[in-house]
Amino acid sequence: MDDSGSTAVPGGQRLPDGPRDAAERMSRAELRDLQLTRLRAALRHAYDHVETYRRKFDAAGVAPGDCRTLADLARFPFTTKADLRDGYPFGMFAVPRSEVRRIHASSGTTGRPTVVGYTANDLSVWADVVARSIRAAGGRPGDRVHIAYGYGLFTGGLGAHYGAERAGCTVIPASGGMTARQVQLIRDLAPEIIMVTPSYMLTLLDEFEKQGVDPRSTSLRVGIFGAEPWTEGMRREIEERAGIDAVDIYGLSEVMGPGVAQECVETKDGPHIWEDHFLPEVVDPADGAVLPDGDHGELVFTSLTKEALPVIRYRTRDLTRLLPGTARPAFRRMEKVTGRCDDMIILRGVNVFPTQIEEILLRTPAVAPHFELRLTREGRMDRMAVRVEARPGTSDERRRAAAEEIVRAVKDGVGVTVAVEVVDPYTLERSVGKIRRVVDLREPGA
Ligand code: DLL
Repeated sequence: MDDSGSTAVPGGQRLPDGPRDAAERMSRAELRDLQLTRLRAALRHAYDHVETYRRKFDAAGVAPGDCRTLADLARFPFTTKADLRDGYPFGMFAVPRSEVRRIHASSGTTGRPTVVGYTANDLSVWADVVARSIRAAGGRPGDRVHIAYGYGLFTGGLGAHYGAERAGCTVIPASGGMTARQVQLIRDLAPEIIMVTPSYMLTLLDEFEKQGVDPRSTSLRVGIFGAEPWTEGMRREIEERAGIDAVDIYGLSEVMGPGVAQECVETKDGPHIWEDHFLPEVVDPADGAVLPDGDHGELVFTSLTKEALPVIRYRTRDLTRLLPGTARPAFRRMEKVTGRCDDMIILRGVNVFPTQIEEILLRTPAVAPHFELRLTREGRMDRMAVRVEARPGTSDERRRAAAEEIVRAVKDGVGVTVAVEVVDPYTLERSVGKIRRVVDLREPGA
């Protein structure tokens, strides 16, 4: 943003600046004052209304009144997914049940899902932060927004929906699935913006091509992609194939849903965290020590304004680091999340994240960005096979060469030996939402 009332965006165009809300116009010092006031109230609210917090604070020997500066937060205990599961379904709610206007739940691949709840005010704050996110992505009132995040208990669909309405946009609530119809809707209703997981965007791009339509010829201008890790290589792939700006939206149900942080279209340098509502810390995942900004570790959030389900020092398991704000100077950025503690594969002692493989595959022209990682065990030896699709029309010889290239790049870049199988185009399962990259065929519990 500059005095011209517009912002230069990649590609040489200028975008009129959207209105900024009061928090976006704050200085860093004003924001920190606001955070402290809100933090003290949030700690008090959690302690007074949630048995788990009372028990944990008492056991740690801290009381809400002990928080006099933002740094004092480090004295308070962490909250984990296990705390929420133990309280299943409503044990961690801090308001009477009659005040809860909506429930969502995280998928919970194992065991019970995590149930989260929102008061009317929580829903309004959520719509505000998603609206702010859409504006930061370049959305303007009157834009049509095609939402292909799943609607339902998942926070993606409805979270994006009410935010887009709040931003003054026209919502096309497509939800996930029925890919051919999605493409038809985009062609007919001509949205400027799409909100979808990056992996499902690839599925949509394939479908466009299958229908003989150049995806670059559509009305789409911006894609707001999140709910799963994606790399800079994937951004380039999507931007080139779709002819759009691709920006990152981050969030998690326990903290709110989508819109905890959003990348600005003019800088594309990692999501700015909407710190007036979500206070971030980065800690050492092993011992929980708070790390200085700039150091890599596990992201931890404290909600500052949430009523129904306040979270105090919630361990996200997402790995990143905090960086100074750029396009929104008061708010810190987080580096794009490229992995979760839970996604890390330990292969013969080496840590491997699926995104490291994604980055390598996207540098290999003969293969498409559709891949899965298959883990097997032979004797006591773990093995990983990368199964990746060839780009259509690639010769057998090119495929063999590409497989060898990938083996070498993974060995050099990640430090492990993997098997690589370049399979036929369109043979791997397509994503319709959050993608699962790892197929673990090792003994259960091994
Ligand atoms: O995925 C909320 C969401 C919906 C975010 C739509 C963005 C867009 P959960 O299902 O609770 O909520 O999953 C949260 O997904 O802890 C991350 O591991 C991962 N995640 C979410 N956004 C990103 C992102 C939604 N932009 C979990 N980059 C989080 C990387 C992401 N990982």
